[in-house]
Amino acid sequence: MAEKEELVRFGVSFPAPLIVQFDRYIDEQGYTNRSEAIRDMARRALLEPSRMSGQEHVAGTIVLVYDHHVSDLPIVLMEVQHRFHHDIISNMHVHLNHDQCLEVIVVRGELMRLRELHQQIQAQKGVIYADLSVTYADKHDVTKEHKHT
Ligand code: NI
Repeated sequence: MAEKEELVRFGVSFPAPLIVQFDRYIDEQGYTNRSEAIRDMARRALLEPSRMSGQEHVAGTIVLVYDHHVSDLPIVLMEVQHRFHHDIISNMHVHLNHDQCLEVIVVRGELMRLRELHQQIQAQKGVIYADLSVTYADKHDVTKEHKHT
């Protein structure tokens, strides 16, 4: 968050039982005040991939769990990822147990393309779980230097 963002105060009315549940929830999540919890929820809601435009430039992850014994699934998943190699930055593979693999694919690019990649992964038989999670990102411009200020 920018350092000098103006804060706007507003009142929120909650039914009593809901605020009890909400306070318990935010306490479990480690929040010390309601404002920060509500701000984070608002940010999360705005980042829902379903409400972002397909032309948006984003970065994030695809997390998937699959059964590597299902026919040629590991090969198919690798071929899918090679088709999207411009959009994939990195990949981590964890052998969860005898059957299941967990993969974290770090992606960056146009949301529309990343959705397509996610759908192609999700649609494969043997993929138990696949979740795309993204946030806004600047267009990657290799001609510009990367500054931390
Ligand atoms: Ni594995």
